[in-house]
Amino acid sequence: MKDIALFDKAVDALSHDGYFIWDHFVDSDSVSMLRNCIFEHYEEGNFKKAGIGKQVLFQVDKGIRGDYIKWIDKKNSHPAVKSYLEQIESFMQYLNQTCFLGLKDFESHFAHYPEGTFYKKHVDRFQQNAHRVISFVLYLNENWQPADAGELKIYLEDKEETVAPLGGRLALFRSEMEHEVLLSNASRYSITGWMLDKDMSLTFLP
Ligand code: OGA
Ligand code: MN
Repeated sequence: MKDIALFDKAVDALSHDGYFIWDHFVDSDSVSMLRNCIFEHYEEGNFKKAGIGKQVLFQVDKGIRGDYIKWIDKKNSHPAVKSYLEQIESFMQYLNQTCFLGLKDFESHFAHYPEGTFYKKHVDRFQQNAHRVISFVLYLNENWQPADAGELKIYLEDKEETVAPLGGRLALFRSEMEHEVLLSNASRYSITGWMLDKDMSLTFLP
């Protein structure tokens, strides 16, 4: 059941501050099931080095980002993934009802940052990804230690927010905000997604 008070808190924070850190968005059993999905995809060879730019402009540059990703096919996903995405869908609908954001769809991928990797300061909404409105990242790391680093850093007008990638924690922020993934000293697992103001199948349109 959805917790309206918590939904309201998240909506308020997103509209006032541009971000919200939602602890225990999923429970620890879900965290391990979701992480196992990543391991299975790895065994099947489904993970690919992430790049920057779409289609013909796609390029891999390890000096910018070092993660490996696997896009999620909503229809053919594990029940744990479906259940997580249903929670996201329900929050997205609530955002539409309360903020009139006109969110139509979302896209998401599993991500793995091997030890020693990072993702330099960037925005998620830019010319080639003009339909991304809200970014959301669910972390899947059990027993994450401060020494493991790999924090998400969100750049606000007058300060920076540093977020440890703790299992079950969901980071929500406006896709146009600058952010980065600091160098990780351990394998770092997550599911990253974007709420879109256009249907996924139509995002190639301007
Ligand atoms: C991204 C990203 C943040 C994170 O994949 O675009 O910024 O904390 N991820 O993993
Ligand atoms: Mn990003």
